[in-house]
Amino acid sequence: MGVSNFIKSTFPNYLSNLPVPDSFGGWFQLSFKDWLSLIPPTVVIVGIGYCTYHTIRGPKCGGTGSCNSSIRRGDAKVVDMIDANNISATSALCRCWKTKSWPYCDGSHAEHNKNTGDNLGPLVIRR
Ligand code: FES
Repeated sequence: MGVSNFIKSTFPNYLSNLPVPDSFGGWFQLSFKDWLSLIPPTVVIVGIGYCTYHTIRGPKCGGTGSCNSSIRRGDAKVVDMIDANNISATSALCRCWKTKSWPYCDGSHAEHNKNTGDNLGPLVIRR
């Protein structure tokens, strides 16, 4: 028996044997064993939903959809220009949007990385 035949013959029987009640009140009459048998398909359905949600949602910054939580939020776009002649020997420019001294890195990325598992860091310019 191939995998295809195994799935086609097993899953319909498995699903039709689940103790899903016909009415709302039937949920309150399920036994402990019935509830246990509903755990695996529930885990699969929730897992598929979770993965689908994260696939559709895409990557987010800070769980809000906005990477910038504090820097010139009133501006339509945050654009900065730095004259290269004014840059000291070494400058670190923030790329994580967490710094308190924009546009320069103040090390705030370290806490962000620690809290999220991210790996953000500055752009370091050397002269
Ligand atoms: S504080 Fe943003 S990269 Fe360091």
